[in-house]
Amino acid sequence: MRRPFICGNWKMNKTVRESEIFAQQLAALLPPSLQRDVAIAPPFTALHSVALIIRNTPIRLAAQNVHDRPKGAFTGEISAPMLLDIGCQYVIVGHSERRSYFGETDEWINKKIKAVLENGMQPILCVGETLEEREENFTFSVVERQIKGGLQGLGIDGISKTIIAYEPVWAIGTGKTAEPFQAQEVHRFIRKEVEKLTSQEVANELRIIYGGSVNPSNISPLMAEEDIDGALVGGASLSVDDFLSIIMYK
Ligand code: 13P
Repeated sequence: MRRPFICGNWKMNKTVRESEIFAQQLAALLPPSLQRDVAIAPPFTALHSVALIIRNTPIRLAAQNVHDRPKGAFTGEISAPMLLDIGCQYVIVGHSERRSYFGETDEWINKKIKAVLENGMQPILCVGETLEEREENFTFSVVERQIKGGLQGLGIDGISKTIIAYEPVWAIGTGKTAEPFQAQEVHRFIRKEVEKLTSQEVANELRIIYGGSVNPSNISPLMAEEDIDGALVGGASLSVDDFLSIIMYK
């Protein structure tokens, strides 16, 4: 059985104080016997303070990006050992905003994923097509390239620790969610691709989460789909009420 995974990606939002208040409020509202995995990805500047607040709660810490090298002369970058040190359990890698604004390639993303795994954390590999690619029927070929490129050389062990987030670029921050059946068909395709790289058993256990304008009203129909195992939530994860409603979907 795949345990649902809900992760909030705050992107470039919230000061340290705002992040602390959010973490305190969410921690106080989460039921103790929650059968779901919950993580938040604050900006780098707030990771340490949030880590201290969520230490004895069910909330886990995620980072939004990482550099592939462990240390050295890379001004402005943050390494995987640093993220582990601060208490991160998950790292988002290859988000479409990083691919499009910062030129991240599948090859580079693959190196970052390896760095995350080598440091005992779990990568959340983001994949997804643009509107143009969807309209030209390239959805599956684009996602296939991103999956194969991102997971290259990880081995069964590495792949089984990876979470894949399908985030169609046209649904991110647009208020336009993929219809549950549209997301499901890509999630199913991703699971089949992972099966080819590993085994049916590994593919069946792999968590594939959906991202793109997820909100309290569309989460339930998305989660009702067979191959959708959770959500990577942007805008709606900035409000404690909305994020909590998403976590507590029925
Ligand atoms: P929105 O939920 O704001 O569309 O963002 C999705 C996303 O990019 C999460 O990583």
